[in-house]
Amino acid sequence: MKLPFSGRALTAGAVAVVTLTAGGSVAGVASAADRSGPAPGTAAAAAAPDLPIANVKAHLSQFQSIATANGGNRAHGRPGYKASLDYVKAKLDAAGFTTRIQQFTASGRTGYNLIADWPGGDANQVVMAGSHLDSVTSGPGINDNGSGSAAVLETALAVARSGFKPAKHLRFAWWGAEELGLVGSRYYVNSLPSADRAKIDGYLNFDMIGSPNPGYFVYDDDPVIEKTFKDYFAGLGVATEIETEGDGRSDHAPFKNAGVPVGGLFSGADYRKTSAQAAKWGGTAGQPFDRCYHSSCDTTANINDTALDRNGDAIAHAIWALSQ
Ligand code: TRP
Ligand code: ZN
Repeated sequence: MKLPFSGRALTAGAVAVVTLTAGGSVAGVASAADRSGPAPGTAAAAAAPDLPIANVKAHLSQFQSIATANGGNRAHGRPGYKASLDYVKAKLDAAGFTTRIQQFTASGRTGYNLIADWPGGDANQVVMAGSHLDSVTSGPGINDNGSGSAAVLETALAVARSGFKPAKHLRFAWWGAEELGLVGSRYYVNSLPSADRAKIDGYLNFDMIGSPNPGYFVYDDDPVIEKTFKDYFAGLGVATEIETEGDGRSDHAPFKNAGVPVGGLFSGADYRKTSAQAAKWGGTAGQPFDRCYHSSCDTTANINDTALDRNGDAIAHAIWALSQ
């Protein structure tokens, strides 16, 4: 059994604020005795950038256009899936990631996972984030799961833009054939040598994070990852709940089953928002979190921008905080 994440408390996002006074001395620096940040001589923890919602939405528009041009979906074994993968891969390649396409077969059709490594960091301590990139055949899959795919892509691009040099190694993944039963992610985990599996400190999953009648759900798995997300939302003044809409219903399940610490975020699928949930989150009680779940109306109109923005920022925060 693996220890919770790195097995120690993380001082996520703790950044000292110092003020230069007129005389040039530095005010607000803690004395050595009460200094709680990194030891002298080590770099201060870098804070994650705000993830630009406009960029995340631009990726969603591209996924929508791809679906529209390819029979209305981005499903496994259909041309809209491969076009989605090529779009994400081109962005990552241009940003300096080392990308790899992993092929598999499911239901007689070729499927693809996309794996992107950010060069550097300790290869024995890998922090991973992933999302399924396939839709169902009945629609374009913009909330399920263009939302997670776009936010993970934008987080990876933010890593590149900022020149972030984390202590741990970062790996991002886009899974194929999730909608056929977690096929792509299971294929990846099963094909990883067990020595490499043991190097994954944590896997963070994002499947449906812009639901139109959103809830703010955090996976109740690895305690360090869970706390990282909960603390982030607490800082925003946004209440969270534990994800209960089907444990094991997304790509974190194969990782969890292999003993990898997992976590993630979710804004709700076809369960209905209760009145207590509407009281704390707004939106409509008695209606599903996503009334277009697995249907043709899961378009760019099926996104709550506030939820997408908060969850995207939370992903970036967690990647930064957990990898330093
Ligand atoms: N994985 C499901 C899908 O893609 C959506 C889903 C339902 C889900 N319940 C969940 C995702 C709980 C994460 C957690 O269709
Ligand atoms: Zn999904």
